[in-house]
Amino acid sequence: MNDSGDAPTYRSEPVSFTRRGGRLTERQQRAWDDLAASHVLAVPRHGPSTSVDPAHRFDPEAVFGRRAPLVVEIGSGRGEALVAAAAAQPDVDFLGLEVYVPGVAQTLVTMRHQGVTNVRLAIVNAAEALATMLEPGSVRELWTWFPDPWHKKRHHKRRLVTVPFTELVARVLEPQGVWRLATDWEDYAEVMAEVIAASPHVDGGPVERFEGRVVTRFENKGVAAGRTIHDFAARPRLLA
Ligand SMILES: C[S@@+](CC[C@H](N)C(=O)[O-])C[C@H]1O[C@@H](n2cnc3c(N)ncnc32)[C@H](O)[C@@H]1O
Repeated sequence: MNDSGDAPTYRSEPVSFTRRGGRLTERQQRAWDDLAASHVLAVPRHGPSTSVDPAHRFDPEAVFGRRAPLVVEIGSGRGEALVAAAAAQPDVDFLGLEVYVPGVAQTLVTMRHQGVTNVRLAIVNAAEALATMLEPGSVRELWTWFPDPWHKKRHHKRRLVTVPFTELVARVLEPQGVWRLATDWEDYAEVMAEVIAASPHVDGGPVERFEGRVVTRFENKGVAAGRTIHDFAARPRLLA
């Protein structure tokens, strides 16, 4: 409990994003007007506009109207990887967690263009969604593609991938579920390797490039600049 008697929220921790404004293009606005009510979750807040009321639970069966494996992407950006995967796997449900509203609106544009119906989006701080909104053991795969690198030393504390974060990852994954990550930054790749190795909550390491990921803008930018793409995968550690 904090001084005001509220349950603690992840806002007492540094967050891994800065809230960028940004206007929607006309096309994004049209997609937003038509699809947001049905495809962007109405998340009850507990303070800031990307927070999650800790009492709120995501009910995939109610949201998607069926029972299917669930893939969650943390920081889905413009939805390139999410929508392409959803189009390729219509029997799987996909949830994108993203704080950048124009990115969410662009995802709706692409979904509409491709006729994809198995994607939903939530404008939330992913750490809070993993801590309380998603039910334990409910996610088949959790994806973290090209998280913000936060290069400056004084910003390292904002990086998403930390040992405490792996506890949240392990909480939501199915026992045989997988957390997949990729980065084009050498120093963040080292951090990912160290975090996975040090975590008592997940078990994994470097892997070949994940075939199920289309090349996103961020991956493209990294490759064009001559950087190597590092992929990782980890499973929850089953406690004896
Ligand atoms: C570098 S971009 C990569 C986007 C996408 N994964 C791709 O590969 O194109 C990182 C994204 O993560 C989002 N993000 C960062 N921290 C987040 C958080 N805690 N919760 C939700 N989204 C977050 C940012 O808004 C941004 O869109």
